[in-house]
Amino acid sequence: MLTFLMILGTLFLIVFNWIWNSTYWSRQGIKGPMGMPIFGNMFQYLIGRRQYGLIYEDIYKSYPKASYIGIYRVMNEPAILLRNTEMIKEIMVKSFPNFSDNVLYVNDKREDLVFCNPFIAKGEKWRVMRSELVPMFTPNKMKLSFPHIASICKKLDSFISNDIGEMPFEGKDLCAKYTLDVVASAAYGLDGESFTNKGSDFTKLVKELFMPNPLSLVHTTALLFLPKLGDLIQYRYLPEKVQQWFVTIISKVMSRRRELKDNNNGDFLQWLIDAKQKTGELVDEFTIIGHCSTLLIEGFETSASLMAYALYEFSVNPHIQKRVQSEIDEVMNKHHGKLSYEAILEMTYLDAALYETLRLHPPMLALLKHCTKPFELPPQFNGVKLREKVVIEEGTIFVVPVQAVHHDPVLFPDPHKFDPDRFSEENKRQRENCSFLGFGEGPRMCPGMRFGFAQSKAGLVTMLMKYNVQLSEKCPKPLEISPTTFLTTSRSGIWLCFKARRLQ
Ligand code: HEM
Repeated sequence: MLTFLMILGTLFLIVFNWIWNSTYWSRQGIKGPMGMPIFGNMFQYLIGRRQYGLIYEDIYKSYPKASYIGIYRVMNEPAILLRNTEMIKEIMVKSFPNFSDNVLYVNDKREDLVFCNPFIAKGEKWRVMRSELVPMFTPNKMKLSFPHIASICKKLDSFISNDIGEMPFEGKDLCAKYTLDVVASAAYGLDGESFTNKGSDFTKLVKELFMPNPLSLVHTTALLFLPKLGDLIQYRYLPEKVQQWFVTIISKVMSRRRELKDNNNGDFLQWLIDAKQKTGELVDEFTIIGHCSTLLIEGFETSASLMAYALYEFSVNPHIQKRVQSEIDEVMNKHHGKLSYEAILEMTYLDAALYETLRLHPPMLALLKHCTKPFELPPQFNGVKLREKVVIEEGTIFVVPVQAVHHDPVLFPDPHKFDPDRFSEENKRQRENCSFLGFGEGPRMCPGMRFGFAQSKAGLVTMLMKYNVQLSEKCPKPLEISPTTFLTTSRSGIWLCFKARRLQ
């Protein structure tokens, strides 16, 4: 009898605990879906069926009139999902000091180098790291780094003609080879050897960083939801092997440059050192290596994803591909066939096509912001006062559902249509603030967007000048997003093939 009562009591406590936790928002008069025990609203994600960003999109669609929604993440952790652009602007721009940190559970006791990355760093460290990195991306620096991009474009061109021809290829894999070599060259003056050496250090180590693997779901959960799981599995954002390799390789480059008194390198590493020396600051090797790792981690994957999805969209929209190619032909003729920074800046339709690609396929389906100072919620529904004043506590998570906003038919009519004209200069001026979030918004907005666009445009120009791109029969239709990865990745790859263009 006693055992029976104990079981009954435990069951009662579990059910009570679940009901109490999963009614956190309704007890405050805030509407949203009820959470399930343990899973919250993330059941489909935790069983590996649906990417977390797509779940946020499902919830977004269910509350069309709200300006935010009370949701439950894993373990019924209450969070706020932003539902309109006014609220997004409030959180990311106007009240930025209340939401200054990103939500990424990286442990500073387990790893230190990645805290030089502004994406990970918090508070004052974030401000310092970001202020050191931003001057690397001025238009003048972009122009100076362009010869690196142009020289890798030549390698890309010969790889396509010698190794791919008209055979099917996986788009992300090809584009990642290219962006990896660009970053290795533009950031540290090194040859990434991605096109020439299948076993190159850069290729091997970077595979460990971003490619989906059997542990992706566990790693993404540790990074975005459960710091305790991260402690249990000793999760690291930058695997130890990669960090060690990085420290060794960049230290070598720095000491070689010191020995040869060689400071004439037009790359990010040199500019970082010069910037320190100019202000008379100590050149702290650890921070410089940290910045170098940021350039690699942030610099290659997002652009490779953008390029691969752009190739996919050009394949399924051949009339748009033709228009992009006509612009490329015209601008390249004007510049006597020379690929330069000025030339790619003139390709405004290609620019618009890349924005439209990011709208349809953002590399980050959602951005997560930590409440860093208490914040009073405005009414949830236009003109309807909250039952009582709701002040959000420090530590609560606010979700910016990037893909949901990008696919919202109110903001982008016929949202699944690929239409670069949405990003013509005139249409851009008329668009609502904070409706395009491909690079984020506010003081934490992506500092590397100019470089990302420069390398992506140059690579695409190199391909589309000579080839038409088509879907390979191997390509799944429609494309599905891998349910387990942190960044958007196509589940079965983006399979394409080139056909040589017949130029008039
Ligand atoms: C097309 C390519 C790229 C896309 C789509 C992209 C997208 C993004 C997004 C969505 C964020 C988050 C912004 C936010 O929280 O509001 C971000 C942050 C960041 N990106 Fe990019 N990015 C790209 C290329 C690059 C490149 C090439 C670099 C550097 C080489 C870079 C460096 C960073 C850094 C350092 C941050 C953190 C900024 C901060 O929190 O202060 N990104 N990026």
